[in-house]
Amino acid sequence: MPALMIWAVVGYLLGSIPFGMVLSKLMGLGNLREIGSGNIGATNVLRTGSKKAAALTLILDGGKGAVAVLIARAMASEDAAQVAGLMAFLGHCYPVWLKFKGGKGVATFLGLMLALAWPVGIACCLTWLATAAVSRISSLSALVAAASGAVWMLVLGYGSAVVLAGLLAVIVFARHHENIARLRVGTEPKIGAKKG
Ligand code: G3P
Repeated sequence: MPALMIWAVVGYLLGSIPFGMVLSKLMGLGNLREIGSGNIGATNVLRTGSKKAAALTLILDGGKGAVAVLIARAMASEDAAQVAGLMAFLGHCYPVWLKFKGGKGVATFLGLMLALAWPVGIACCLTWLATAAVSRISSLSALVAAASGAVWMLVLGYGSAVVLAGLLAVIVFARHHENIARLRVGTEPKIGAKKG
């Protein structure tokens, strides 16, 4: 158990690095809290007008989830990998550095799923892309992809991670409560639109 706690801390610290916030400041794009939805994720970074910063944020936010899982698996166990992935996700959503007011966890979710069970990760990414191609709405794509995670785990034979995928989906939905309210009244902006 102490070993799992170490991986929980490692995962949390990795996940809590707010790459979107850091990159936006370093690249002179402004304070994300005052732009669009105020979120620290790649979708909101895109609203600064910098595709490069948005792509980097997506890669780094996804990468931290994947790295947490891969390091824990290589140095400990599959259980440690799940704990590290979950905590990286929670670190992104509730980072101590931002007074626990973090992001919505979507890129980190996709990254940790790719590392945990790559066929499931690819299926979730394709689910996001397919929904985005039809709707052009990032939050809706995220919700559908997150909800699909547990289903893909079952369908593709990764039953041991179903509970984790379900838990992640519940948190993704909770983090998107404002987006869900806008989706319900039809005011959620399309990808790349300036206003959040
Ligand atoms: O990945 C975050 C996305 O689902 C919603 O972002 O900025 O439109 O609230 P945003």
